Amino acid sequence: MFPAPLPADAPWIVMKFGGTSVATAPRWRNILELAASRRAEGARVLIVVSALSGVTDTLKHIASQGDVGDRAAQAKALRERHHALCDDMQLDVPANLHARLDDLATLAADGYAELGELPWSAQVQAHGELLSSTLGAAFLTAQGLPTAWLDARECLHAVALPNQNERTRVLSAMVEARHDRTLCARLAELGEVFITQGFIARDEEGRTVLLGRGGSDTSAAYFGALLHAARVEIWTDVAGMFSANPRQVAGARLLQKLDYEEAQEIASTGAKVLHPRCLSPLREPRVPLLIKDTNRPELDGTVIGPEVREQAPSIKAISARKNITLVAMESVGMWQQVGFLADVFANFKKHGLSVDLISSAETNVTVSLDPTENLLDSDAVAALAADLAKVCRVKVIAPCAAITLVGRGMRSMLHKLSAVLAEFGQLRVHLISQSSNNLNITFVVDEDVVDDILPRLHDMLIGAGALRTDDSLLFGPAWQTLYGTVAEVKPVRAWWRDERDTLLKLAAERSPRYVYHLPTVRGQARKLKALASVDRLHYAVKANTHPSILKALVEEGFALECVSPGELAVVMATVPQTTPVLYTPNFASRADFAAGLATRATITIDAVFPLEHYAAMFAGRELMLRIDLGRGLGHHEKVKTGGIGSKFGIPIEQLDGALRLAREAGARVIGLHAHLGSGILDAAHWGEVYGQLAALAERVGSITVLNIGGGLGVPSHPGEPSLDVDALAQVLAQVRASYPQFSLWMEPGRYMVADAGVLLARVNQDKGKGTVRYLGVDTGMNSLIRPALYDAWHDIANLTRLEEPATAMYQIVGPICESGDILGEDRRLPESKEGDVILVAQAGAYGAVMSSRYNLRDDADEVVLP
Ligand code: LLP
Repeated sequence: MFPAPLPADAPWIVMKFGGTSVATAPRWRNILELAASRRAEGARVLIVVSALSGVTDTLKHIASQGDVGDRAAQAKALRERHHALCDDMQLDVPANLHARLDDLATLAADGYAELGELPWSAQVQAHGELLSSTLGAAFLTAQGLPTAWLDARECLHAVALPNQNERTRVLSAMVEARHDRTLCARLAELGEVFITQGFIARDEEGRTVLLGRGGSDTSAAYFGALLHAARVEIWTDVAGMFSANPRQVAGARLLQKLDYEEAQEIASTGAKVLHPRCLSPLREPRVPLLIKDTNRPELDGTVIGPEVREQAPSIKAISARKNITLVAMESVGMWQQVGFLADVFANFKKHGLSVDLISSAETNVTVSLDPTENLLDSDAVAALAADLAKVCRVKVIAPCAAITLVGRGMRSMLHKLSAVLAEFGQLRVHLISQSSNNLNITFVVDEDVVDDILPRLHDMLIGAGALRTDDSLLFGPAWQTLYGTVAEVKPVRAWWRDERDTLLKLAAERSPRYVYHLPTVRGQARKLKALASVDRLHYAVKANTHPSILKALVEEGFALECVSPGELAVVMATVPQTTPVLYTPNFASRADFAAGLATRATITIDAVFPLEHYAAMFAGRELMLRIDLGRGLGHHEKVKTGGIGSKFGIPIEQLDGALRLAREAGARVIGLHAHLGSGILDAAHWGEVYGQLAALAERVGSITVLNIGGGLGVPSHPGEPSLDVDALAQVLAQVRASYPQFSLWMEPGRYMVADAGVLLARVNQDKGKGTVRYLGVDTGMNSLIRPALYDAWHDIANLTRLEEPATAMYQIVGPICESGDILGEDRRLPESKEGDVILVAQAGAYGAVMSSRYNLRDDADEVVLP
């Protein structure tokens, strides 16, 4: 059944198909289906096509003026290619296709003599699209979708711009495209589905001209503007733009929504899927552009449109451009020299080189040259350098790469980039530039480091909450999930989703409440128990001292580690006498040590002071010494426990003194210990610590145990990779093999319990302030201080409305009289109501144990699910 005729003012949809999408009969059937479905939506359709894949290259070859015989042979090959496709399509070669192929043969035979070189070349190249569109019109019509052939040159008029030379005017022309109501009306009279050519236009003299690289996308955008289309769809071989180049970063995420400027920035700084030129025609008329995968039309793709205000500020992408050349120019006291910059830049103009990034200092200006904007060959650069040498000292640095972070409001995100900046701190950074539109920050580094560093930086941006993968409106699936050949590692479904009903009941009885899930604790315990090289695992009870958790871990074969008399007391009262206990207090008093000595715990001393002033109390005991290895690591500055910036451990240079004092007092030092910080996801770390401690221990003699600490992290942001326990097993097996004489102990806290606990709270109020919405719940930093203290990220869900669409953007806050009383910033949740149950995830570690009664609010209750 053919749909009812469209009204004259029916909306337009422009659909563009590239070379591979028009190269085969099955692909054309795909186009038929897609165009028919858009028509069925009630829209007029304009299909814009490229030449069949490879055809433009052949035409360029013809236009490069080989001998006449060669040109004829190439034209003949193209005729056969198009005939063969007609055959596959079960289509008689249409008469107008014959005519166009004849035209091409004549052009090839004649050469450029008559038309002039550039116009002739443009005419030859234009045939790719003229042929594919002619063939398409015949096919679609024959298949029952009447499709009118439209000559793009009748609609797209090139304008000559003052900075263009003849070559760019003919081969890389610009078109001014504004809503053309007359054209819309004329076409509405002609039909409902049209097909036209990408890449070509007509200039003021009536000549055929080309739109340059990415020309077909640009044509589609021009048509989108001319017709004031409801949308422009770019059909290609990938589902859209990604947060990084998927060839470099398999975990790159599909970007589902971008504004024009961000998309333009991503396209200009490396993404190949869209030509940056094709966005500007759509910006002013606010026509959205959609990128879709021809092979996977069910995927959402990327929608590019006007700026969306209700979005979490986020880095959208990290891109890299290679082959960047830097030109550094030194001149003493240049700012005093009027016209210095003008002289310098005149040379770039003279050599036809366009400058991309600039940074300047009192005596130096450094600029970058981007190969996509320049015809960069070593001759051009050498000639430039020679001319510049007349006005300043020149240094050319190449090959470099420009790594760019893109996101609206970049300056407001800088505080989240400390880990990324630290990573750049390890490299030679030649230039940093922050764009004046606040959309990007770029680092120019040596080219050879890029492939290695890019995946790491992408992970770090997720881990730092700078690339907000939690926002499912912005970020879609990872590339490897959509296209990868390796099976995707599915994130484990959080236990609390399956226990939802129980949790809702618990919250209805009493709120706020911590709930702990013992099966999750046991599961984590078993993962670490599988580490064959670890002789003893001590659970660092400071993470969560709930007796049921202590008991469960002891049942799983864990020993325990305490840091205060209070922790010792709970442990001694809870677990069997046979459970080994470590006692590692910091800046402890004599009384603290006495409390430890009164138990069976093995004491770890982390300063020389106790041995200097009251060593006698340790006489006859076995001790361990905590060493500061000189560096700290962790998810936040405040949880790094090494280096002179931290108060922990005995500096290596004081180790010999400490050993001597211990020996003199009659204590036996049996172990060395180091713990560098919390929330570490890199398995190699513990191997390094073991190696360093082992090297120290070999000199001591009495040492039999190395305790390499805890700090094992759990990912908190969606998509953040987890600690690879298999890799950890390998690393430890290796270092153990080098130093088999020592027992290996570890003392993880967070890893055991973080995911096992949630904090349940209930909504008190909702408050709007300008564009910001606050959702206030019945507890905050008093129960869970980690977000306020470390900017820690905890997943937050509205448990009452788990299935409802997350349409609101909230700041989740508590009732405490502090502006820092925040549980989560910029969280997308369903519209929430008073009394709804809000769940804060991953609150099993350092949650209840760090809570306070500030403002005299009651402690959150604690419940355990067996
Ligand atoms: N061993 C020692 C000597 C420690 O100081 C700590 C933690 C651990 C082991 C256990 O570290 P874990 O595996 O849990 O990372 N409140 C912070 C974490 C502070 C950790 C203090 N020491 C947070 O909420 O992230």
